[in-house]
Amino acid sequence: MILKKGENIELEITDMAIGGRGIARVDGLVVFVDFAMPGDRVLARITKKKKSHAEAVVVSVLESSAFRLSPPCEVFGFCGGCKWQFVQYEKQLEYKRQFVRDAMEHIALLKDVPVHPTLATSSVYGYRNKMEFSCSDSRWLLPSQLGQEDIEKDFALGLHVPGTFHKVIKIDTCLLQPDLGNEILRYGAEFMKHSPKPVYGLKSHEGFWRFLMLRHSVYHDQWMVNIITSSEDRAAVLPLAQSLQTRFPQIVSVMNNVTGRKAAIAVGEYEICLAGDKVIKDRIGDFEFKVSANSFFQTNSLGAETLYKVAKQYAGLTGKETVLDLYCGTGTISIFLSDSAATLTGLEIVESAVEDAVNNCVQNHVSNCRFILGDIRESLKSMNQKPDVLIIDPPRVGMHKDVVQQILDMGPDRIVYVSCNPATQARDLALMKEDYRVEEIQPVDMFPHTFHVEAVARLVRKAGTVNGER
Ligand SMILES: C[S@@+](CC[C@H](N)C(=O)[O-])C[C@H]1O[C@@H](n2cnc3c(N)ncnc32)[C@H](O)[C@@H]1O
Repeated sequence: MILKKGENIELEITDMAIGGRGIARVDGLVVFVDFAMPGDRVLARITKKKKSHAEAVVVSVLESSAFRLSPPCEVFGFCGGCKWQFVQYEKQLEYKRQFVRDAMEHIALLKDVPVHPTLATSSVYGYRNKMEFSCSDSRWLLPSQLGQEDIEKDFALGLHVPGTFHKVIKIDTCLLQPDLGNEILRYGAEFMKHSPKPVYGLKSHEGFWRFLMLRHSVYHDQWMVNIITSSEDRAAVLPLAQSLQTRFPQIVSVMNNVTGRKAAIAVGEYEICLAGDKVIKDRIGDFEFKVSANSFFQTNSLGAETLYKVAKQYAGLTGKETVLDLYCGTGTISIFLSDSAATLTGLEIVESAVEDAVNNCVQNHVSNCRFILGDIRESLKSMNQKPDVLIIDPPRVGMHKDVVQQILDMGPDRIVYVSCNPATQARDLALMKEDYRVEEIQPVDMFPHTFHVEAVARLVRKAGTVNGER
């Protein structure tokens, strides 16, 4: 059968692909189907046709998988934040384990690595401690809103249609954040809309209000509001900061990041503290962390505790070891392991994260950690002692191959590789497999209703390899 873009076709979904789309096969050609899961029979529209595969989107579900649910979010299917709301949670966990297994088998070409069942997170909604909402002067309307005469079109504060830079859906309630976050969001939107300062145009690059970023401390139930604007104008932002604090006493910090850059990144060239503290405090396990607006902090605080417990177990510490923590962010893993190792050194590229890491040690009375600022490609070269245990927790892109080579040259006996992207983790492990045996991998779910999964791999150096040489 020849598939054509734009045509509707009946498909049986048999598998789930990395990336969260259902897989069907038509005469051997793989079709990736958005919003479909194994066990579904769907009518789908072909949206892309290539030699290697086709892509499609569900038009209607003809027969449902027994594990299909009705998604509770009103913008489900448009905002793309949590595409798996229609998949029962137990199934989500199974698929995530399968992604890690598939990546090991097909990318790393490692067949027999034990991949354990995915560890669940405690809350499947309201779990995110950070949300970033974009402003736009041109609201993207849902199909149900098209043609509504009285609908506001020239202002939106919300989330992007996936893959687009200028299509912003107005969000009143995001189920991934706690309820109070939604109240703050709605209040912020009303304030910006009625302010004399214009909202930012994502095409014109003119306007003032750019983003609203919210951070929640799960342990203390406190909030940070970060207002991102295109220029500095305290007279415009201070009334918002003050009224937010008056209305929501749980807000302990209001920051203003100022960015004149066109890139849609909610980080300023500089920041101003408008009210309260410059940081918000949260806990992971027994440790308390101060997090500033622009520092990386795991976005599911309770899930992070589960993740770090696995990392600690895999590190197998006795109290005597030296530990090197690559991509250490605000030092959370180092501090979490600090009571079980002799010394820990964290390497990180973001200055404010290193400052937070140092302060977090003081806050937690931890004295055996130090942190070095810089790009790991350079700073790793200055590490002249081989650590007993290496922790790696890179961003989604994984490690640069020079960094992998430096690790192989260094040759620590034990490595714990924490990853938020099974594909790049598998690619990196493939580069290391001559020297290291991957003993086991534990997937951990931190992001219910998305296809994202964290995976912790335990690596042991093979006998007969010394600092990269056999
Ligand atoms: C996935 S986060 C992990 C942070 C930390 N381990 C945690 O659990 O919160 C990755 C971190 O790597 C840092 N990073 C990215 N590229 C880097 C590089 N080339 N050199 C050093 N750090 C880098 C980022 O700033 C970020 O803090």
